[in-house]
Amino acid sequence: MAWDPAGLPDAHGRTVVITGGNAGVGYFTGEQLARAGAHVVLACRDPEHAEAAVAAIRRRVRGARVEATPLDVTDRGSIDALADALLERERVDALVLNAGMVHPPRERRTDRYGNELVLSTNVLGHFRLVARALPALERTERARVVTLGSLATRLGSLRLDDLQLERSYTSWRAYSGSKIAAQAFGFELDRRLRAAGSGVTSLVVHPGYSTSGRTPGVRGVNQPGRVKRFADNLQAAWTQGKDHGAWVPVRAVLDPTVTGADYLGPAALTKGVPVNGRATRSSRSPRTGARLWPLLEAASDQEFPLP
Ligand SMILES: NC(=O)c1ccc[n+]([C@@H]2O[C@H](COP(=O)([O-])OP(=O)(O)OC[C@H]3O[C@@H](n4cnc5c(N)ncnc54)[C@H](OP(=O)(O)O)[C@@H]3O)[C@@H](O)[C@H]2O)c1
Repeated sequence: MAWDPAGLPDAHGRTVVITGGNAGVGYFTGEQLARAGAHVVLACRDPEHAEAAVAAIRRRVRGARVEATPLDVTDRGSIDALADALLERERVDALVLNAGMVHPPRERRTDRYGNELVLSTNVLGHFRLVARALPALERTERARVVTLGSLATRLGSLRLDDLQLERSYTSWRAYSGSKIAAQAFGFELDRRLRAAGSGVTSLVVHPGYSTSGRTPGVRGVNQPGRVKRFADNLQAAWTQGKDHGAWVPVRAVLDPTVTGADYLGPAALTKGVPVNGRATRSSRSPRTGARLWPLLEAASDQEFPLP
């Protein structure tokens, strides 16, 4: 089905939670959903950035229903507090797993629990959050979990025998491996939800190649300097703004026709309107998903409430 990002379905009455919603793709996902009428919750680690994003959406979208809530996806206390708060809500229609470390450190770093930091940020925190907040999604009709994958999954591999890259860390391996793991988690989650007869759908999407220098300026949210604008515009042929990257998760939240078997991304691979595409075999594979699952449970110290 064709999708028009400028003509979104009405989203009044829906509540959508976006991790890392203060910047980039996450911010514009929130702004576009607020414009469609959704109640948007930006889950962010920096309170000042969070408030700037809330103020920006209120400034740009008349009558927006938007709020911020604290979340650091590398801090279990913070994850559990958000999950508890979501369980108190009447409904959670969608949880967009967007927060991510997109510029991994050169040297391997770990979070406070000893997990490799890129994996922790891009996968483990979200795994724990979904596991704990699942009942809130379950009691909302047709709720969705939307995982942000990446084209980087085509250019890397997932080392299940060295998931934490203790023996083989490079920043690229950390990023691409974390995104394969994120996608594999999203697809495996959907298989397990289907097997359990759940009404929740898990969708995996990717936003192409979206840069801040190609993104409209938003006070307090996106203010690239002239050099950044110039450099990013040199790549205009194959890149887009993060406002366009956000079209993809927005479709995943709102389009009633998409299913957990789909893989939405931009039509021209790195840019364009969202269409259904094909995820890499490594992230789709049920075997990989089944092997990854217990590793994620162990590393996040969180049993997942689905067999
Ligand atoms: N842009 C692309 O071309 C592209 C391509 C493929 C996939 N993606 C994926 O899309 C998502 C968003 O990317 P982006 O380009 O919009 O990135 P971005 O502009 O760097 O924004 C990342 C967001 O994640 C938040 N974040 C990072 N670590 C966090 C933590 N520990 N706890 C809570 N929030 C945290 C950041 O918060 P702070 O502001 O506090 O740092 C920020 O809000 C990522 O998952 C990325 O992997 C992006």
